[in-house]
Amino acid sequence: MAETDFLVIGSGIAGLSFALKACQYGKVYIITKSVADETSTRYAQGGIATVMYEPDTFEKHIKDTMTAGCELSDPNIVRITIYESQDRVKDLVQWGVDFDKTNTGKYDLGKEGGHSEFRVLHHKDTTGLEIQQKLYQQAKTHPQIKILENYFAVELLTQHHLGKEVTKHSTDIECYGAYVYNPRTKLVEIALAKCVVVATGGIGNVYGNTTNPSIATGDGVAMVHRAKGAIRGMEFVQFHPTALYHPTERPAFLITEALRGAGAILKDWHGNEFMHKYDPRGSLAPRDIVSRAIDNEMKISGEDHVYLDARHLGQDVFFTHFPNIYSKCLSVGIDAVKDMIPVVPAAHYSCGGITVDEWGRTTIANLYALGECASTGLHGANRLASNSLLESLVFSHRACEDARQKINSIHFVQGIKPWNAEGTVSNEEMILVTQSIRELQSIMSNYVGIVRSNLRLQRAFDRLNIIYRETEMLYQRSTLTIRICELRNMVATAYLIIREAMKRKESLGLHYSIDYPSKN
Ligand code: FAD
Ligand code: SIN
Repeated sequence: MAETDFLVIGSGIAGLSFALKACQYGKVYIITKSVADETSTRYAQGGIATVMYEPDTFEKHIKDTMTAGCELSDPNIVRITIYESQDRVKDLVQWGVDFDKTNTGKYDLGKEGGHSEFRVLHHKDTTGLEIQQKLYQQAKTHPQIKILENYFAVELLTQHHLGKEVTKHSTDIECYGAYVYNPRTKLVEIALAKCVVVATGGIGNVYGNTTNPSIATGDGVAMVHRAKGAIRGMEFVQFHPTALYHPTERPAFLITEALRGAGAILKDWHGNEFMHKYDPRGSLAPRDIVSRAIDNEMKISGEDHVYLDARHLGQDVFFTHFPNIYSKCLSVGIDAVKDMIPVVPAAHYSCGGITVDEWGRTTIANLYALGECASTGLHGANRLASNSLLESLVFSHRACEDARQKINSIHFVQGIKPWNAEGTVSNEEMILVTQSIRELQSIMSNYVGIVRSNLRLQRAFDRLNIIYRETEMLYQRSTLTIRICELRNMVATAYLIIREAMKRKESLGLHYSIDYPSKN
């Protein structure tokens, strides 16, 4: 693979929006392990939170973000994100993204859990698809941007690949590019770059039930961890309260929180509203509270789901604002105007990730992390709904502002060792990989889910250790495949979640432990 100024790993909102800005300052390669539009971004429904009109104010959005995050969010990062939000939404509009408007010409704003005002810009219930398509269209036709589909980033290149020792205590680690696997040639290529951007998205597939597409296997977090960069906040895994209950389907289809914003109500098996027992904000309380309440209701009833009642909204609301949800439900035999929708919480979003500063810089020089794989400090112990698309845009812009000032003073490194595949043989037993993935998902769902305890975490840690040893053995002796790399990355991600959860001796936001109930 040729050298490039900017190597962007990931083609979701974070990677594409960075590329569309960085292409003014140099050549950009975007690599993506699937087709370019298979991303979490594509599936986003609710929209993008931005203060637009009175009576909303930046201060109200800041307060809601801090409250949802249990005051663990970094106040400086929260202010930056919210004060820069309108400019970043303007960028989206300039790139052609179309947000719904009312017939007075104003933006039609939605409301979601934890928001004190209507402030969510959306494109019906397919906001992510609209963003993904418009950004991809711009990037695809730009002469300075090259998009390489079905290329898998395996490792980040640092001094370690020049034969020098790098430890987690090293303070001078630099990134020079990545080893990238090309499944067509089955070879690992060296991609050298002056700046590297990790924008690899989420981690949902570490769990048994998730709203995330299959690409979300924590690759970026795992790669940076192996490169000895800092990772934080991984214990804060957000479960979305309302994924459609349809056990044979993976990923789980999301029923947007905006439907609750429009008036849909959570109900138990007897048709009774139950959220007011848990929080005065009812069905629109922040997600950690709603997911835990549903988990509790399911334990009380012994059933596998609860219901979302949107029947009273009527056909017009569904056809105008939630056509995708209506037709999906219909395809599985649920007429949302006549039937209640069975819903269950599902792993949805990683609030933690690769530690970055206010310019998206990781602890490794010339390496940025953006989007869901990064931890900017915005979300604290629980993300406020629809703040993540916004975060991706704000920090992609900032990372580009930082990178453009130094790109011309960085030189390509010489002497990276070629990938060593000596002694590996083709792995005939893919069943071992598939089985390990299932075991890992079951461990994480059963012991490291919505409700945790010291004993459950210890059990998860011990079980994971066995899978870790088996996976490393298999990886060392097998010819590379994407699936085995993903398994290895999921094991590393699961380890980081458990490690951080074990360290936190309190219940806070998304990390709830029955051993520390009173602190939440
Ligand atoms: P993604 O969009 O997931 O892109 C990741 C990219 O990295 C992909 O191109 C993938 O192929 C690539 N990649 C990963 N690993 C590798 C590798 N090893 N090598 C090469 N490429 C790799 N947030 C909101 O703010 N509002 C919403 O309404 C909303 N709704 C959501 C609904 C659903 C169903 C889901 C799943 C999430 C939703 N979110 C929402 C969260 C939000 O969509 C994501 O956090 C955001 O889109 C992540 O963007 P990203 O660019 O970081 O990653
Ligand atoms: C949703 O539409 O409910 C998802 C919004 C989000 O994850 O921010």
